[in-house]
Amino acid sequence: MSIIFQQIRTQQGCQSYLIGCSETCSAMIIDPEISQIEHYLGLASHHGLVIHYLLDTHTHADHFSASKPLSEKLNIPVIMHRNSPAPFVDIRVDDGEIIVLGKLRFEVIHTPGHTSDSICVTIEDRVFTGDTLLIGGTGRTDLPTGNPEQLYTSLFERLLKLDPDLKVFPAHIYSERSHSSIKEELENNPRLQKSERQAFINQMKTLNLKMPNHLTESLRTNLNGGKTLTQLLIDAGNQITFISQEQVFSTKSGNNNSLLLIDVREREAFEQGHIEGSIHIPRGQLEININDLEFNPEQRIVVYCESGQLSILATARLKEMGFQHAVAMEHGLARWKELNYPIVKRE
Ligand SMILES: [Fe+2]
Repeated sequence: MSIIFQQIRTQQGCQSYLIGCSETCSAMIIDPEISQIEHYLGLASHHGLVIHYLLDTHTHADHFSASKPLSEKLNIPVIMHRNSPAPFVDIRVDDGEIIVLGKLRFEVIHTPGHTSDSICVTIEDRVFTGDTLLIGGTGRTDLPTGNPEQLYTSLFERLLKLDPDLKVFPAHIYSERSHSSIKEELENNPRLQKSERQAFINQMKTLNLKMPNHLTESLRTNLNGGKTLTQLLIDAGNQITFISQEQVFSTKSGNNNSLLLIDVREREAFEQGHIEGSIHIPRGQLEININDLEFNPEQRIVVYCESGQLSILATARLKEMGFQHAVAMEHGLARWKELNYPIVKRE
């Protein structure tokens, strides 16, 4: 029997892992990340694997977990520690429990400290350490549910007492390396050199790290299973089509009445300059004020905003409301101005 193993990394250094049982063709993904959903599915089918479980080693505060969308897509359970507050978790595990995947056995170790729901998972010659133990570092303890005293216990009384030859696969790697080992971390990890309890705790309390990007969005998404802005834009973008700025410009230059432009920015932005002939309906008023439009099914509705994002959401909404001729102008008015296409302040 052998393990099928794939390590998947994002540009920001997030690591996730596809682990499959070659005998039963069943697989689990550890710490799936939202931008890699298609990648996981492609890898699983490449290896002839069926994904059975999704496991998050903890509630991530700095990136977006794909567990909820993947679990809905594949109709498979999400596994997390029982302290996890996320309501969409299907299987809540605790210290010492075994997850069986085909012929593979994963053992759960509860390692609170980085978060109260942090777990590490061992299988054969390796341990997935989440953010409890990183290569040359540890998880921080200053984010929600973090606790430096618990991290000390989890590291020095649990994790670091495992077989020194175990390979360490963490949830983040900020170098080209793929893994390390318990022995190597014990010897070289600068944070672990403070092995006396109070010295370690003091060290963790005085790290003074800056807050991660997207903290609120990550917690909202990972705790409640909500969608990220990117995900909302992808979902809306899949329901609509787009029109290029070049085409809008040339159609309008031809004095052609086939386009009805709607500017969905706020009033101030509209008054500072818009495309000639545009109707102004701010995004916040769209559903209510759109009925004031004279509905002409021959006209194509072109929606634009400043950056090209709000217009995607607004166009999807118009389609939903029955405006099948609505399209979003690519990129937004910021680029229109860069191209030196004409704008007017008043009409
Ligand atoms: Fe984390």
